[in-house]
Amino acid sequence: MIRAAVKRASDYGFDIYGIRYGWRGLLEGDIAHLRYEDVSGILSEGGTILKTSRTNPFKTERGPARVLENLRKFMIDALIAVGGDDTLGVAYGLSKMGVNVVGVPKTIDNDVAGTDFSFGFFSAVEISAGAIEQLFTTAKSHDRVIVVEVMGRSTGWIALFSGMAGGANYIIIPEEPFNLDEVCALVNKRRLDGKNFAVIVASEGAKLAEKEVVFLKEGEVDEFGHVRLGGIGQFLAREIEKRTGAETRSVALGHVVRGGPPSSFDKILATRFGLAAVDLVKEGMFGKMVSLRSTEIVPMDLEIAAAGLRTVNKALYDSAKIFFG
Ligand code: F6P
Repeated sequence: MIRAAVKRASDYGFDIYGIRYGWRGLLEGDIAHLRYEDVSGILSEGGTILKTSRTNPFKTERGPARVLENLRKFMIDALIAVGGDDTLGVAYGLSKMGVNVVGVPKTIDNDVAGTDFSFGFFSAVEISAGAIEQLFTTAKSHDRVIVVEVMGRSTGWIALFSGMAGGANYIIIPEEPFNLDEVCALVNKRRLDGKNFAVIVASEGAKLAEKEVVFLKEGEVDEFGHVRLGGIGQFLAREIEKRTGAETRSVALGHVVRGGPPSSFDKILATRFGLAAVDLVKEGMFGKMVSLRSTEIVPMDLEIAAAGLRTVNKALYDSAKIFFG
């Protein structure tokens, strides 16, 4: 995305600057000129050469004022904000204050509203689906149930897509609260059928149907109000083993799926988003984000991304459910 934006901007004769550590860099003035030589060769790198942080200018003392000061100081006419719903929410807030902002949806969670896909998502799905396939080896050879916990704070896109692609026996997502009895019944049924193994995929943000429990790793809350999730895999493994007698293990894939080289799909999507974002700047179409609709990149109001998350719809989950068992 950065490589494409710098290329397009240079072709248009724009000066383009990189802001390090996201909003934190804009607050602190950690801003440097970017030339194409700085970004050529980064296509296959995961993460971001500009680094990132979870800073929210609207939760920082004099945050919005400092943003405006630095935009003036560095003579920045337009801002391209790259990130998920938190980043794009801030971008929308700044755009309401009159800042010329264009957004780019980027999150492995794929939960930005207004776009079919965000870049980063399919790279995470590739790794996660590959891991699920590999875990079937131990599950089958050792007659075990393996619970695979994947990222997905509020939505189950990674669990659903990687579970479907990896052939998981059951998928648990935050949008569809799960029932422990149902999960255990599935394990028991498989054993009666002579299949003494199962791989179950669960989003970190999954919820129990019977009572409200949030699976937390630590009590910390970031500047966007998010707690650190984790633990559903271990909880499920313990309960399944206790209730069914099947030897069960859990594996949390965590940050593994957020690393390494991006998939080809993501490289192309990010490239198209980067080009389109600079085009929106050139046309003065601010308060918008680039978005993928079917096969086209189109402008979408940033307000849509700021208004709420894009969750997994029931029909999609139902098509995955056909293969549960
Ligand atoms: O926001 C994206 C996300 O990948 C979530 O799915 C996950 O809960 C979170 O990041 C983990 O963030 P951190 O790297 O700060 O622990």
